[in-house]
Amino acid sequence: MTTRTLGFGRSADGVATLGGRPLRDLLLEAGVPTPAYFYDLSGIRQRIERLEQAFGAAPHVSAYAIKANSAGSIVRTLLSAGAGIDAVSGGELELGLRLGAAPRKIVLSGVAKLDREIDRALSADILAIQAESPLELLRIEARARALGQVARVALRVNPSVSIDSHAHVATGHDKAKFGILARDLGSAFETLQRSQSLKLVGISTHVGSMLKGTDPYLESARVVCDVAQAALGRGHALEYVDFGGGYGIDYGPGELPEPATYVSASLRFLAERGLEKLMLVIEPGRSLVGPFGVLLARVVQEKHSGSGGDDERRWLMIDAGMNDLLRPALYQAVHRIEPLQALPGGRPHRVVGPVCESTDDFGEFSFDAAPELVVIRDAGAYGFTMASEYNGRALPAEVFVDDGKVVHVSPSPGVESWITRRLEA
Ligand SMILES: Cc1ncc(COP(=O)(O)O)c(C=O)c1O
Repeated sequence: MTTRTLGFGRSADGVATLGGRPLRDLLLEAGVPTPAYFYDLSGIRQRIERLEQAFGAAPHVSAYAIKANSAGSIVRTLLSAGAGIDAVSGGELELGLRLGAAPRKIVLSGVAKLDREIDRALSADILAIQAESPLELLRIEARARALGQVARVALRVNPSVSIDSHAHVATGHDKAKFGILARDLGSAFETLQRSQSLKLVGISTHVGSMLKGTDPYLESARVVCDVAQAALGRGHALEYVDFGGGYGIDYGPGELPEPATYVSASLRFLAERGLEKLMLVIEPGRSLVGPFGVLLARVVQEKHSGSGGDDERRWLMIDAGMNDLLRPALYQAVHRIEPLQALPGGRPHRVVGPVCESTDDFGEFSFDAAPELVVIRDAGAYGFTMASEYNGRALPAEVFVDDGKVVHVSPSPGVESWITRRLEA
């Protein structure tokens, strides 16, 4: 059996690979135009299997945050290794159910759940609807009463913990719209105490994304455990605590802990708190899929201005834009961009897309000469799921690779599809 490099790699002669196969060959085999996302399912499978193993015999659910990448081939890979789903909308909930997720491994988060989304969660009998405010809890109660059901609910607490991450991905500080602050928990517990239509089964949190280590995670886990102990003390038959997701990945600056590290630390922490009988739910998204996807783009042209002095400018214009990969424009995120057929290096260029926005700029990267194709690395999470047709651009294709072979191609709907829909609007 050959061991393939999982995810992105380089062959001995410097050619970019995915799952051990030259990306250029995969592009030809898939027969899709650029820009196109490529994902290595083998890498994703290994990641989730390691994560599942880290739990040992502990009761748990790895509720994959499906917002990170909702492609069926990817979600099925995760589900078959035992994962569940963290959904944040009725659409994601429905997709998870239709992909075959076990209902009791699904949690529904989200700050403004619609009545029809609550109803669907109730009819599917999922693990829990995670309430994000005392008023939402009342709305869930009203829907459960109307349908003659008892709603399984969790309280998503806002732990008032700040993290060292971009402000737009921090969710656990006390000014964020997410979760219930400590000062508002009393009213949530009052509702739970008197209601015949609500059953409190979990306490959850999500402190934010791109964590660089376990410290803030455990700090917010401490708040979850405090609230869980208070709930048990009030006689609630709690089934789980949910410490959320947010495990960072290495976009270039250096190694970060693997998801399994967070699990081991969480299990130790639960045991210290005497809560090891509770099920541990986690909500990883990016860390399961991000490193195993790339976006391939074609260089449209170079642009130069000035010659040699301080005012010299060099751009590399590619056919992928912020509509295909929004993270750089949205969070000033940096994804390494490298030539496909050669090692990175050479003169600095600003790599920009074709979209008519100044933020359609992927950052500065070095190239010897303009390559024909470039690879944008670590694009498996929050890439396609955030893509749009802005500027009349078609959504990109997606190509799924398993064991070095193209196993599925999801073609771009094409620009004709956009034109037709706009004509009909
Ligand atoms: C409630 C919730 N859980 C989990 C996640 C997943 O975070 P990550 O992809 O950083 O692991 C998110 C991401 O925004 C989230 O909002």
